[in-house]
Amino acid sequence: MRSFLFVPADSEKKLSKGLGTAADALILDLEDSVVADRKPQARTIVHSFLTDQVAKPKRPYLIVRVNARDSGLTEADLDAVMPARPDAVMLPKAEGGADVSYLDAQLARREQAHGIPVGHTRILVVATETAKAIFQLGTYAGASARLSGLTWGAEDLAADIGAESKHDADGRYIEPFQLARSLCLFGAVAAGAQPIDSVYPAFQDRDGLRRECEEARRDGFTGKMAIHPGQVDIINDVFTPSEAAIAEAKAVVAAFAANPTAGAVGLNGRMLDMPHLKLAQRLLARVPS
Ligand code: COA
Ligand code: MG
Repeated sequence: MRSFLFVPADSEKKLSKGLGTAADALILDLEDSVVADRKPQARTIVHSFLTDQVAKPKRPYLIVRVNARDSGLTEADLDAVMPARPDAVMLPKAEGGADVSYLDAQLARREQAHGIPVGHTRILVVATETAKAIFQLGTYAGASARLSGLTWGAEDLAADIGAESKHDADGRYIEPFQLARSLCLFGAVAAGAQPIDSVYPAFQDRDGLRRECEEARRDGFTGKMAIHPGQVDIINDVFTPSEAAIAEAKAVVAAFAANPTAGAVGLNGRMLDMPHLKLAQRLLARVPS
């Protein structure tokens, strides 16, 4: 999946607007975009939205972002939404594999209670929102077969560490946030999960968003979260492999297929060995069928 659009779950209007976008996934947010007073109402809205949508043949992937473990609200969120069979649950402020194991058990119990196959509900985590979380980014591998994506966030991390700024004059993340981003990428790949880039909050800055998407793809991220419908098309565009990239990857695969006993082959004057083949195969695996 390329684009993951956050939608505040207390807004029926935005939920229906979200369905009208080309987002691959909607993240129905019960956490920070919903004030405490409106959380009960937001849970009810998510339940009825999922009930309406889940059986539809053509719909986006539906993820519910629950409240963080330390809020004390996580389990009531799950109680409210799990009967309606979300595709996945996103845990914010996750601090390592132990939090994923905890969520796995919580999901399994509710799947059993509601006649949902155990393991149906996947898990995504926002994995860099506290200083403590940064030191746990290597612990996600093996935590749960449900784990399908890791993403990172700068806003909460800035608040946790007391950073005055997140960006340099050029608009690029500065060192502490770059480190969080890189470790999220490594942690996701190490765990066999999708590395998903963080949101781009300046939703009217289309050039800035495109640049950030391109830099994320360059580094190995395969999708990005959005906070506004206007961001979805740019994200989809950048994270859809281009015709040229697909043709090049096919040529690499073909070069190895034509030389089955060679560890290294030449293509257009360039040496190719196993890492090139692996990269080409990864890219082809992302081509929409
Ligand atoms: N999902 C669905 N619809 C959205 C949307 C979103 N994330 N963000 C905006 N829209 C809708 C608006 O309701 C508006 O609809 P309308 O034309 O029918 O009135 C339209 O898109 C244009 O929105 P716009 O006026 O440009 O923005 P806004 O001022 O209404 O909203 C935000 C700005 C930031 C409040 C809004 O984009 C938002 O709520 N984003 C998600 C925030 C979030 O979930 N944060 C948590 C993760 S970091
Ligand atoms: Mg947050």
